[in-house]
Amino acid sequence: MVGIVPSILSADFTRLEEQVREAESAGAARFQIDIMDGHFVPAITVGPMVIEAVRRCTRLPLEAHLMISNPENSIEACVKAGSDIIIVHQESTVHFHRVIQQIKDAGAMVGVALLPSTPVLLIEDLLPMLDMVVIMTVNPGFDGQKFIPEMVPKMARIRQIITKQGLTCDVEADGRVDETTVQQVVAAGANLVVAGSALYNNRESVKAAMKRLVAKTL
Ligand code: DX5
Repeated sequence: MVGIVPSILSADFTRLEEQVREAESAGAARFQIDIMDGHFVPAITVGPMVIEAVRRCTRLPLEAHLMISNPENSIEACVKAGSDIIIVHQESTVHFHRVIQQIKDAGAMVGVALLPSTPVLLIEDLLPMLDMVVIMTVNPGFDGQKFIPEMVPKMARIRQIITKQGLTCDVEADGRVDETTVQQVVAAGANLVVAGSALYNNRESVKAAMKRLVAKTL
């Protein structure tokens, strides 16, 4: 069963509670909140305050995707705001192993995200410590970008390594997952898919969009 993870980056923030509830009732597995600092990635988005707001709208697990430099300075605040999973980029800190330990010590599950240019080799030895690996299928910073097909074999590679090591680590695809790309990432081994603009757009309701996306994963 593939879990669909709405990214609220694409939601209408003038009615965030409604958009969260729509996605939850349409079958979302969890939500992703993209935290961006305008330094690690070009855009500046939201922080722990919005995590807290979403926390009040749903009981589903929340992923805080830290696309920020020096993530070690924000982990406790994001956990305190209600994140169940902290996703940190391998490229965002020198002391990566220590940051993973910091997330665990803060009581959250650990997700590690890889930019399109980062090989899986850099995290292979840390897989036993991880709850999830996020393979970015766009260059992070904005929603609605072009899917990078070269990331599909990379997803298959990390899934193969996880299986070979007998681990239960989730693999999440993040970036322009929609009905034209979801089958590729699921076939490659993603069991969670982040969807922003595919779910939150002005073409159709969240419910209709979710139904179409889920149908492609079956
Ligand atoms: C990109 C974010 C993604 C994005 C997904 O920087 O990390 O989570 O919001 O949105 P779509 O699905 O539209 O690429």
